[in-house]
Amino acid sequence: MSLEVIVLAAGQGKRMYSRLPKVLHPLGGEPLLCHVLRTARALRPDRIHVVYGHGGERVREAFDDDSINWALQAEQLGTGHAVRQVLPHIEEGKLVLVLYGDVPLVSAASLEALCEAGRDGLAVLTAHLPNPAGYGRVRRDPSGQVIRIVEDMEAGGGERSITEVNTGFIAAPSERLAGWLSRVGSENSQGEYYLTDVVQLAVRDEVPVRDVSAENPWDVTGVNKGSELALLEREFQKRRALELADRGVTVLDPYRLDMRGEVEVGSDCMFDANVVMEGPVRMGNNVQVGANCILSDVRIGNNVLIKPNSVIEKTVIGDSATIGPFARVRPGTQIAEHVHVGNFVELKNAQLSTGAKVNHLSYVGDSSVGERSNVGAGVITCNYDGAHKHRTVVGDDAFIGSNSQLVAPVRIGSGATVGAGSTITEDVPENALALGRARQRNIQGWKRPPKD
Ligand code: UD1
Ligand code: CA
Repeated sequence: MSLEVIVLAAGQGKRMYSRLPKVLHPLGGEPLLCHVLRTARALRPDRIHVVYGHGGERVREAFDDDSINWALQAEQLGTGHAVRQVLPHIEEGKLVLVLYGDVPLVSAASLEALCEAGRDGLAVLTAHLPNPAGYGRVRRDPSGQVIRIVEDMEAGGGERSITEVNTGFIAAPSERLAGWLSRVGSENSQGEYYLTDVVQLAVRDEVPVRDVSAENPWDVTGVNKGSELALLEREFQKRRALELADRGVTVLDPYRLDMRGEVEVGSDCMFDANVVMEGPVRMGNNVQVGANCILSDVRIGNNVLIKPNSVIEKTVIGDSATIGPFARVRPGTQIAEHVHVGNFVELKNAQLSTGAKVNHLSYVGDSSVGERSNVGAGVITCNYDGAHKHRTVVGDDAFIGSNSQLVAPVRIGSGATVGAGSTITEDVPENALALGRARQRNIQGWKRPPKD
């Protein structure tokens, strides 16, 4: 029986108090809906249908994916009504799995078990939650058979204390589901068509209702308000950090490592506390990342040392480079093998060739620095004339003395030396010494003015 997945994502999420549609709120740097779609794809369905409505176009635009069938639910009249928007697009004889766009951590394993159980009847995914408030409760008859789901709003005194909840996920053959949904009404406290009412209809039709229990409560935790999203984010990050640790990466504190989007880490890497990585981040083997580093869209080779408090964005770093502490590496930078970038150095759109050193207190922007060249402490490339950006090109084996300014556009030839404190406004030929500073005068016996 081939599978079609319906993801419900039309709700407004009023309790998020946000203009962003709920399913676009990020978890681990990616929209909630993105997590659900990834899990749905792992089940290899024939098609995925997403019911969208609130914030409609924004939701569609966030997922530039032609393989999804988008179904508009113009008015949000309930989860049953939402599923009804899609059923006309699904043939008979298919297995339909309903997922919720705001329940991001559901596991493929639970869903596979649910699909298996729903092939000839109706399967519901349930869970035991210590605090079931807000969820639909699962009611069973004395023999333990599921007989209905009572929504939180509808639940009477005894029912409210039931801790077994409906996760919202169901699986059933398409024609059965269509039949039940055509009979679901909206006579309830919210005036909505509840998907959950199909359970009692199945029981009435004497169709088997099977329940599959989710092992881990986090797998079925939905996002209805900000605090739930915040707690899910922590759970998600902890899981990712522990996964890395189990693959041989040293994670000094799994509660203080954040990975957003795609992150790939080789073997024998180490992360100290409070590292944030915003994908795509890829690193080879034996990369050590010190405390409080932020790496955003960075590709790193092998044997790299990134010392604490460095912020690196849109940069490529070669093997055996050393960066930081307190380095700021801005977009467009390429750092070759064996380069040293030291403390309080800002690089922007800079290409540093093999073995180059920029060790202290420098700004190197729109520049290339040749192999083995040394940029002394406090060197500034003056790349901006107030209107345009200009390039600085330093050849191989050059030495730029401390506290020099290189006024771009300017070229420093290979093997050239710039004396400390120079302001360089003209090109320096290969192997020359350039001095661009006032000559020192010493006035013998000079007296400071006396204090009054
Ligand atoms: C729903 C279930 C409840 C379950 C809980 C689990 C129903 C009636 N209740 O309640 O039993 O315990 O989820 O999280 O199904 N949606 C639409 N269109 C609509 C209404 C909702 O697409 O008209 C979508 C929402 O975007 C959301 C999902 O359906 O992704 C669930 O809707 P929500 O309003 O959050 O339902 P709950 O009250 O949480
Ligand atoms: Ca919900």
